Order: sequence, then structure tokens, then C-alpha cells
Amino acid sequence: MPAEIIDGRKIASEIQEELKQRVAKLKEEGITPGLVAILVGEDPASLSYLRGIARGCEAVGIYTETVKLPANITQVELERSIDKLNKDAKVHGIILQLPLPKHLDTLRAESAISPDKDVDGTNPVNTGKLLLGEETFFPSTPYGVQELLVRSGHSPEGKHVVICGRSNIVGKPLMGILVQKQKGANATVTVCHTGTKNLPGVTRQADILVAAMGKAKAITADMVKEGTIVIDVGVNQIQDLATGKPKLVGDVDFEAVKEKAAAITPVPGGTGPVTTAMLMANTVKAAEKLTSA
Ligand SMILES: NC(=O)c1ccc[n+]([C@@H]2O[C@H](COP(=O)([O-])OP(=O)(O)OC[C@H]3O[C@@H](n4cnc5c(N)ncnc54)[C@H](OP(=O)(O)O)[C@@H]3O)[C@@H](O)[C@H]2O)c1
Repeated sequence: MPAEIIDGRKIASEIQEELKQRVAKLKEEGITPGLVAILVGEDPASLSYLRGIARGCEAVGIYTETVKLPANITQVELERSIDKLNKDAKVHGIILQLPLPKHLDTLRAESAISPDKDVDGTNPVNTGKLLLGEETFFPSTPYGVQELLVRSGHSPEGKHVVICGRSNIVGKPLMGILVQKQKGANATVTVCHTGTKNLPGVTRQADILVAAMGKAKAITADMVKEGTIVIDVGVNQIQDLATGKPKLVGDVDFEAVKEKAAAITPVPGGTGPVTTAMLMANTVKAAEKLTSA
């Protein structure tokens, strides 16, 4: 039987509706949550991603702004800009759009974001808290994966989750989130990468399979057991053979895998919209913390 298609846009709009109410409450107390993105250089893909975030923020009532910095900025100047935002009372969340130009040290820049405003959870302080199971900001993409699973009725609790990919922004934090002895987590987690021997042998053991590899259609039907829940984080641009035009596909061979999976996220319209929603949720949480402080 073909899989249930998990609709990320629908789940994201549910989250947005909830956020609108929280934002309205904050505004009654004179606080408008504010999210600022820092963009170094003029990468068109980053600009388009940030426009999507700005649209989402506008829809829920979050103030948003992109600080554009020149590609030749020095490390010290970048950190000075971050520090200015750290001290700006109208800014509750700061994100640093990656990748940075090669001459800049990403970890140092991420470490400069105040942990209280680090709404994409990239400051190592928050990474450590995540791993320890302490209250923190989860990075928005893995947070979105957890939210997609829970809200679509496929809680990871007690399940074997196999994650393909160990990046610092998706695979590793997702492992850290799902392994916690907490509601919506408490899973048995396996993380795969290019050093994994017999990848199909491991992925076939998954109750929930998460693909975050950045390789178009790398997860094929023979790598998935019947009845698996498949979450596709990948976003890859390929050329559509029929039209010759570029199109977006995930890391999963959607058409073939949906015949075996119990549920699957599409690309686009799966994890992407929920990522943006979780970034906004973290910004609202940061602003709420300020009112309760
Ligand atoms: N939906 C969203 O909101 C969202 C957000 C972020 C990223 N993404 C997308 O998610 C994908 C992954 O992003 P990322 O930043 O995590 O990528 P990344 O930093 O390139 O990491 C890819 C990971 O996949 C592993 N990998 C690659 N090919 C593999 C293979 N054939 N077998 C096993 N493991 C393999 C790599 O292993 P090694 O460590 O051994 O190299 C690495 O750990 C990309 O398509 C990206 O565009 C989507």
C-alpha cells in the first residue's frame, strides 16, 4: 500500500497558528519578538532562504531583519556586529547564515552569539546542553524532524531511528535530541555516515529512517523495510529529464520508497517548512524567557 504522505506545510501552518497566539500575548505585554539574520556576502540561495523566513515571521507577527555584511569582512568586525545584536533589546534571536566565506572561522563566530539569543542552537554552549538533556534551543532542522514525527502521530519513543548523516547541523543534534529520556524522544538511535559498512543492512533495521546526506535519491527502495517511517531532510537540485529544467529532490528515491514505507515526507513540502516554523518557535521562546526573567 502506498505510504501516508506527511504534509510538512500543514504541520508548519499548525505551528504558526499556535505561535500567533503566543506572539499576541507577548505584544500585550509590550514585547515584539525579533529575529535577526546575519548574511555575509550575497549568496542567492541564502537570500532566498532568508526571504522565506522573513515571510513566515511576518505572518506570525515576529519582527525580522537581515543584516548584510560584505564578503571581505574580518573576523573581528563580524564578531563586533554579532555583539551589537547581543546587546540590542529588540533582538531576541540571532542566526548566522552559513556557509561563511573561507577566511572566517565559523565556530568562533557561532560562539560569539549570546546563548540566550542563539535560536538555531549553534553556540557550543547550547550544543553541550542539548547533549546533556538540559533546557536549550534545539537547532531548527532536527527540532523540526522531531516535531514532524510527533505531530504526525509517529513518535520516536521506543523506536529504532536510523539517521543517515552526521553533520553538526542535522545528524548529530538529531541524535542528541532523540536519544534523551524525554517525551517525544527516548529512541534507540543509530547514526550512519560514509564510514558505515553495509549501509543498506543498517537502514533496513530502521523503524524510522532519516536521510540527511545531501545526495539526491541515495536512499533506494531496497534500503527500506516495509512499514518504515521515512523522513527526508535532503534538498538537492537536479535536472528534470522530462523538462530539462532544474528541480528539487530529496535524499530519498521518493516514488519507489513510498511503495514500501508506511509514511514519508515529500521534498519540497516536508521538513523545510517545519524547519522555518521551529526557528520562529525558538525566537518566541527566547522572547517569552525575557518576560519571565
Ligand atoms: N530541510 C531543511 O530544512 C534542511 C536543513 C539543513 C540541511 N538540509 C539538507 O539536508 C542535507 C544534508 O545537509 P547537511 O548540512 O547535514 O550535509 P553535510 O554537512 O554535507 O553532511 C552530510 C552527511 O551525510 C553523510 N553522507 C554523505 N553521503 C553518504 C553516503 N553515500 N553514505 C552514508 N553517509 C553519507 C556524510 O558522511 P561523512 O560525515 O562521513 O562525510 C555527512 O555526515 C542536504 O541536502 C541539505 O541541503 C535541509
